[in-house]
Amino acid sequence: MSDQAEKLRNRLKMDIPSKEAKTLAVVSGKGGVGKSNFSLNFSISLARKGFKVLLFDLDIGMGNIEILMGRNSSLSIADFLSGKSSIEEVILRGPEGIEYISGGTGLSQLIRMDRESVDYFTASLSEVLRKYDYLIFDMGAGLNEETLSILLSVNEIFVITTTEPTSLMDAYATMKYIHMADSELPFYLVVNRAGSTKEGNETLSRLEDVLGKFLGRSPIKLGMLPDDKSVHEAVKRQIPFVLFNERSQAAKGMSAIAEKYMNKMNYNAEKRDNRGFTARLKQFLFER
Ligand SMILES: Nc1ncnc2c1ncn2[C@@H]1O[C@H](COP(=O)(O)OP(=O)(O)OP(=O)(O)O)[C@@H](O)[C@H]1O
Ligand SMILES: [Mg+2]
Repeated sequence: MSDQAEKLRNRLKMDIPSKEAKTLAVVSGKGGVGKSNFSLNFSISLARKGFKVLLFDLDIGMGNIEILMGRNSSLSIADFLSGKSSIEEVILRGPEGIEYISGGTGLSQLIRMDRESVDYFTASLSEVLRKYDYLIFDMGAGLNEETLSILLSVNEIFVITTTEPTSLMDAYATMKYIHMADSELPFYLVVNRAGSTKEGNETLSRLEDVLGKFLGRSPIKLGMLPDDKSVHEAVKRQIPFVLFNERSQAAKGMSAIAEKYMNKMNYNAEKRDNRGFTARLKQFLFER
């Protein structure tokens, strides 16, 4: 391992122009609001626009993403972290050309890694990230030390909420927590399971107002997905909803969101620092 780590370190020192994938994390406050469905179907939508997407399931212990696309594999990031597999081996093929990594139960290992392993992990990830345009993290509900270091390393945070006040409050609390740690990390808002366009827009505006008033933040309102029976049906059939029925309201909503995202690209030009995801993650893991 140390040999390999050394090699990677040297390669990184050679100052290869760094063009890591853009990284985004999909979060909510409350659980069960649609993060995994959003992450998977948004990934597929970006892939259909010609981008190379790596979806990373961090809903540890649940293996949700795999179930949602009707796949099943025994390999997860845990196998890489424990040294059993290479990073390439734990990257699996999903539908429409997306690739994914299962979370397994492995993330707690991240926090216990010694410096050498952190070096090796981040260097391997950095190598891999050059092959993708986007790395999308499907986060579990709730925050902890490990997930926070990932959230604070990504380029963009996608916040999913339903129209229910409980979900909204929790989404706000999550954003406040992230904002306290990094006030320049951009927030993209998505309302899921909207009963109507009006209700969805009202929810987006309410959240925008609160963020402006209390945190001085202006989030990007990406849009909404309707409450749609075909999502439920697609989940049962283990087919991503944008593939299950392209003409469903949810699929149309997703395509509008992907379109809007493309138009907002570079809206928040990276002001924080121009290091890549893995450089930031490494720093967090070293500073613990
Ligand atoms: N737009 C929608 N219309 C109808 N039902 C939906 C919609 N989005 C999600 N659901 C329902 O909500 C369930 C939970 O969705 P999902 O697993 O994506 O949530 P999650 O936020 O990832 O949950 P967790 O916090 O447990 O990870 C789905 O199985 C589906 O039945
Ligand atoms: Mg989930």
